Amino acid sequence: MADARILVVYYSRTGTTRKVAQSLAAALRCDSEEVVETGSRSGVFGYLRLVIEARRQVPSRIAAAARDPSLYDLVVIGTPVWAWSLSSPVRSYLLTNKPRLPSVAFFCTLGGAGSDQAFGQMQEVVGKRPVGCLSITARDVASEKYAPQLATFVETLQRTLAEHRSSRATNAA
Ligand SMILES: Cc1cc2nc3c(=O)[nH]c(=O)nc-3n(C[C@H](O)[C@H](O)[C@H](O)COP(=O)(O)O)c2cc1C
Repeated sequence: MADARILVVYYSRTGTTRKVAQSLAAALRCDSEEVVETGSRSGVFGYLRLVIEARRQVPSRIAAAARDPSLYDLVVIGTPVWAWSLSSPVRSYLLTNKPRLPSVAFFCTLGGAGSDQAFGQMQEVVGKRPVGCLSITARDVASEKYAPQLATFVETLQRTLAEHRSSRATNAA
């Protein structure tokens, strides 16, 4: 694992997905990058716009990524679930960076329903199957009950990377 390059990319509007992303990056001892919107989300219209964007599956405006995902072996992408959908800022990130993405894994935080739909949309945009998926409820994040789920996810990612590395070594021999 020591030389595997992993990047955790996430968007978070109210801090829940950020908290999981930071725990994940600490457990994987890897880089992280927050997707930042350039438009305003304030007020009733800002809130309505995010629901509409998610439902219609349209991207929103985001700042250019600081890190090049093609320099990593695995990019782990996190989103809140909005209206049973992928959030529009993460949709933008995926659309913009799709050609530069290596292997991917997904995680989301949510109230309780819509993770399968959000993961399905992420896979569709990226055009590749994730090596792992993790969904955690906002309630479990708030009550700090997500450590076991996170540990299982981290193990899956580490095992997959180790398998990839050993099959690359076998092919190169
Ligand atoms: C506009 C909007 C739509 C949402 N839709 C859903 C939903 O369909 N299913 C669900 O389980 N949670 C839904 N939620 C709850 C969020 O997914 C949840 O609170 C998430 O953890 C927020 O992440 P964040 O704090 O990183 O922004 C919605 C929240 C917002 C603001």
